[in-house]
Amino acid sequence: MKVGASAILVDSILTKVWEIADSYYPKHDWAHGRSHIERVLRMAKEIGNREGANLEIIELAAILHDIFENREAHSNVAGFRHEIEGSKEARKILTKLGAAESTIDRVCHCIESHRKRSGVIEPQTIEAKCLFDADKLDCIGAIGILRSAFVSFDHRQEFYREEKDLEDYKKRNIRLDGTIIDYAKHSSNLEYELSLKYVAKRMYTETGKKKSLTKGRLLWTNSTADFRTN
Ligand SMILES: [Fe+2]
Ligand SMILES: [Fe+2]
Repeated sequence: MKVGASAILVDSILTKVWEIADSYYPKHDWAHGRSHIERVLRMAKEIGNREGANLEIIELAAILHDIFENREAHSNVAGFRHEIEGSKEARKILTKLGAAESTIDRVCHCIESHRKRSGVIEPQTIEAKCLFDADKLDCIGAIGILRSAFVSFDHRQEFYREEKDLEDYKKRNIRLDGTIIDYAKHSSNLEYELSLKYVAKRMYTETGKKKSLTKGRLLWTNSTADFRTN
């Protein structure tokens, strides 16, 4: 696929990309499985629409952005980062499907820069910023709480662990690149203290910043469905 022909052809490979991506996302991963991907896709497109981003790049990147998340979390190999390895894998997938090199480069940059945990690569393009913000908005609010609890369950963690000295805990269980050494020793409250409570302040786009302010409400399926607890 050549540059300029992307609009129609990207459309034609989307179905195939979904099929392939589905084979990477475990069926019962409620934190990083299909429903997370669908929410991030919906949110990223909504943000992208308001920010004037290329929605085809966003769509391909959103579908593929976490294909190696489960592998990182469960193989727990030092140096294996799902955003970097996932970006390389996405490049192979899109190349096989005949996507244009420029499209692949733009999609892969979105994927390699979507990570919040000691992100090695900062998002440089508007599409990468939209994906980053959409992915992080799924870490906060009601969905964020549920996903965090599921991760604890998935790794047989205590839901709540008392750690008096967070810096000491970080030395023991968090690598210098921000990845977790032993997931079983981590917990939802430690994840919140070390990472989740900073997420709302890390938005790149104006739309993302506005949306993060409403996340005190309980967001379930999209930006319009919400209810209050009082
Ligand atoms: Fe991710
Ligand atoms: Fe994600």
